[in-house]
Amino acid sequence: AEAELETGFHETIEHEQRIEPRDWMPDGYRKTLVRQIAQHAHSEIIGMQPEGNWLTRAPSLRRKAILLAKVQDEAGHGLYLYSAAETLGADRADLTDKLITGRQKYSSIFNYPTPTFADVGVIGWLVDGAAICNQVPLCRSSYGPYARAMIRICKEESFHQRQGYELLMCMMRGTDEQRAMVQESVDRWWWPSLMMFGPPDDDSPNTAQSMAWGIKRHTNDELRQRFVDMTVPQADALGVTFPDPGLAWNAERKSYDFGEPDWSELKAVITGHGPCNAQRIEQRKQAHDDGAWVREAATAFAHKQKETA
Ligand code: 3HC
Repeated sequence: AEAELETGFHETIEHEQRIEPRDWMPDGYRKTLVRQIAQHAHSEIIGMQPEGNWLTRAPSLRRKAILLAKVQDEAGHGLYLYSAAETLGADRADLTDKLITGRQKYSSIFNYPTPTFADVGVIGWLVDGAAICNQVPLCRSSYGPYARAMIRICKEESFHQRQGYELLMCMMRGTDEQRAMVQESVDRWWWPSLMMFGPPDDDSPNTAQSMAWGIKRHTNDELRQRFVDMTVPQADALGVTFPDPGLAWNAERKSYDFGEPDWSELKAVITGHGPCNAQRIEQRKQAHDDGAWVREAATAFAHKQKETA
């Protein structure tokens, strides 16, 4: 019977169909999905901090309202993804504990500071742009709940990307100081955005198996290249440059050649030694502790409901 179930699993994957929560699946498939979905959720939740930093200081009510909507969306993306992880038997409280105690990761990109308001636009343009490149293929991931969560997340991510680009367009039509602020921000975020796609394929222990299981649809380098090809023309239209002397159109490949990201920096940031890692985890821990009374009250209320039901 187990052999039949296993055959059924592989046939479903081969026919590009969906594995659903109640289907049989190899332990490794379940494990790597919990790993990737949980870390994706953690990224969305931690990702609220760099931008949230500007909520009280946005330059206009319109900018504040847009930023508020975006940060709220990120929280929602985190909740969808924790729910998707729960369909695999993961426990949300346990995942939060693993994040806070450093036993699970979140995206390297959120460990960088946001010292100027131009960062809000550049994060929208480059970070959400990179997230779209990475997440659109995940709409076709073989695990049903993950793929379906991605469909709505990608729609909202596109709004985030457009609002960031529109903000930068306004600043580029502004004063010399505003233009310089945008370029300075782009110079800080370009390489970390490329690193967001993960290590190079020849240093990516999970890619082969994730591709075989239809969890990942493209490799890290393929998506990184797709992001560069999509973004360089947008930089030209904006009037900014990227800090990479190796960036050049390759007519043969019909793609941009670009320099090698600093993989030692990615390793350092992933292992907790980025500019803001400690602060991001401390703030997440503080928010979790501050919210304990809400969880206790909700649990007490639920018990009372059950008793009187
Ligand atoms: N930041 C942190 N950790 C990273 C990383 C990054 N940018 N890139 C790779 N890693 C980790 C991996 O998690 C893995 O460690 P683990 O085995 O302990 O999980 C290790 O480095 C080796 O990397 P692999 O390439 O072998 O790992 P994956 O096959 O999982 O690929 C990934 C990494 C491309 C990030 C993949 O997990 C993925 O596509 N995840 C879903 C997308 C996601 O998480 N995006 C986060 C972006 S932020 C976001 O979406 C918010 C939006 O609002 C901006």
